[in-house]
Amino acid sequence: MSDYLVQFNNISKFFGKVIALKNVTMKLRKGEIMCLLGDNGAGKSTLIKTLAGVHKPDEGEIIVDGQKITFDSPKDALDIGIATVYQDLALVSLMSVTRNFFMGREPMKGPPFFKTFDIEKANKIAAERMGQIGIDVRDPSQAVGTMSGGERQCLAISRAIYFGAKVLILDEPTSALGVHQASVVLKYIVKAASQGLAVILITHNVHHAYPVGNSFTVLNRGKSLGTYEKKDISREKLLSMMAGGEELDKLEVELKEMNRLSAQ
Ligand SMILES: Nc1ncnc2c1ncn2[C@@H]1O[C@H](COP(=O)(O)OP(=O)(O)OP(=O)(O)O)[C@@H](O)[C@H]1O
Ligand SMILES: [Mg+2]
Repeated sequence: MSDYLVQFNNISKFFGKVIALKNVTMKLRKGEIMCLLGDNGAGKSTLIKTLAGVHKPDEGEIIVDGQKITFDSPKDALDIGIATVYQDLALVSLMSVTRNFFMGREPMKGPPFFKTFDIEKANKIAAERMGQIGIDVRDPSQAVGTMSGGERQCLAISRAIYFGAKVLILDEPTSALGVHQASVVLKYIVKAASQGLAVILITHNVHHAYPVGNSFTVLNRGKSLGTYEKKDISREKLLSMMAGGEELDKLEVELKEMNRLSAQ
C-alpha cells in the first residue's frame, strides 16, 4: 500500500462556468504538514472542501488510507477522522469554553434514559486539554468570546484531536493573528503532526508556512503548480510562484530605488 494517507488525483470542480479547480493532484503522509499556498481565489478552500465533504468533485478521485472515498456530507468526513477548522472557527462566542470544546458530544452521566450532561467531567477535560498546550483556562465556564484569537484557534484544533481526527485541515489559521499568537498556533500544529496527525495548512503567508511545512503545494487559478518537499524548494522560490510574487519582487526593487534616490 502507498505510504500516503490522503491522495487527490486529478480533482476538478466547476461552479457553472467558473473552473475553480482543474486536474489538481496532491498527496499527504501521516505525521506530515502539507502547506497549501495560493493567492485569493486560487481554489484552496474549494479543494479542501472536497476532502471535508462539503463539495463533491466533478472529476477525479480522493483516496484516504488506500480507499476511494465519496462523501455525502461533512459528517461523513468527520466520521472517518477528517476534521476541518474553518477560518471563522464555528465557535460560539457566548458559549463557554467547555461547551465549545464538546459541541454536542458532551460526556453524560446517570442511568440510561435519564442521562444528564456531566459538567464536572467536561470542565476537567476541557481545562486539561487546553493546559496541555500551555493555555491556562482558570474558569472553563468562561465564554469563548473572552479568549484571544490564538487561544480560540488552539481550542478548535485541540477539540479535533480529542475527537480522534487523523487528518486536520486548517484554513488560514494564522491570518488574523499577530506574530506571537501565530507562533503559538504554529508550534501547536507542529506538535499535533509529530503525534501522527496529517495536517493540511492553508495560508497566504509563506513566512508562516515555510518553517513548519514538510511539503508545499502551490495553487494558481485552480491549477496546481506542483507539490514540493521542503528540501527541493526555497522560501524565495515559493514566494515568487504564488501569484503576486513577481509583483512583490518588483515592489522591492522600486522601494530600493526610492531609498537610493532619497539618500542622495
Ligand atoms: N460556491 C461557489 N459558487 C461559485 N463559485 C465559487 C464557489 N466557491 C468558490 N467559487 C469560486 O471558485 C474560485 C476559487 O475559490 P476559493 O474560495 O476556493 O479560493 P481560495 O484560494 O480559498 O481564496 P481565498 O484565499 O480568498 O480564501 C473563485 O473564483 C471563487 O469565486
Ligand atoms: Mg479560501
